[in-house]
Amino acid sequence: MKDQVDRLLEEINSFTAETTEQVESFRLKFLSKKGLVPAMFAEMRNVPVNEKKEAGQLLNNLKNRANERFEELKTLAETKLAGPGKKEDLTRPVGFSDAGTRHPISIVRNEIVDIFQRIGYTVSEGPEIEDDWHNFTALNFPIEHPARDMQDTFFIETSPDIALRTHTSSVQIREMEKSKPPIRKIFPGRVFRNEAISARAHCIFHQVEGLYIDEGVSFADLKQSLYYFATELFGENTKLRFRPSYFPFTEPSAEMDISCFICGGKGCKICKNSGWVEILGCGMVDPNVLENCNIDSEKYTGFAFGMGIERITMLKYQIDDIRLFFENDIRFIRQFTGAV
Ligand code: PHE
Repeated sequence: MKDQVDRLLEEINSFTAETTEQVESFRLKFLSKKGLVPAMFAEMRNVPVNEKKEAGQLLNNLKNRANERFEELKTLAETKLAGPGKKEDLTRPVGFSDAGTRHPISIVRNEIVDIFQRIGYTVSEGPEIEDDWHNFTALNFPIEHPARDMQDTFFIETSPDIALRTHTSSVQIREMEKSKPPIRKIFPGRVFRNEAISARAHCIFHQVEGLYIDEGVSFADLKQSLYYFATELFGENTKLRFRPSYFPFTEPSAEMDISCFICGGKGCKICKNSGWVEILGCGMVDPNVLENCNIDSEKYTGFAFGMGIERITMLKYQIDDIRLFFENDIRFIRQFTGAV
């Protein structure tokens, strides 16, 4: 028996392992239920009584050494795998990581910003919680204007002076108050209106506002800038149409339509068979607004425009329910990455 144990000990001591599979084969060979060490214990039956004590000691010794070697091999294999001085195996393939993706509103916002940056506009942002001056008064809203009505505006606290901004035009005012012309800026941001939520309307949405003020800026400049924008965003065959409109802060004011980019103007579901879709509001900045911001309206003129990002995104991707943008269903959001 002693010879057998010695031979096994030699085998155990000289066993090497570089991989976890080899460590496992050591365990199977020596330590598992059917392994060589338990097999030696089974031999105890045949050992004469007077030798049992000595044999027992030999076997316990063997078992302890086998266990010890198993631990040694395990550590060896682990450090071998990790390489010198490293804890992790950097060559192991990584698992699938379920990262999110850019939201369609961000994709379109970035594209709009990009287009205007190419012609010299820079980006500014303003607060979402506004005072009456920046959201309404400085923008030439008469005191009795219905847009100030509780129905449209979320007032906060108890003060009628503080509200969630209803449009990004408030950032125009902040910009004109703090800088001198020439001003060439766009203001992307989130706006809030007290509206019932439906497939077409939401109480939270996003706008991009643009402002250009300098000496001698005319409506022709406004048209040319927006023509450039529309053809960049919707394709070079896009045609524009301006319809007279009204905003308190611009005079004259207009709403701009583009020829339907789905049917090319022939008439379809998207353009409700008119061949045109409304894209934005715009106009020449009202002299009163310039004066409210201490800009000399005799010397300077300018134009402003504002568009809803949700609306443009819905048109561009033919999305028929605005609420989808706010549900954060990853299956919906994933569809737009790489598409723009
Ligand atoms: N602020 C307007 C709106 O929210 C859009 C607009 C901006 C119109 C600038 C003209 C000029 O509807």
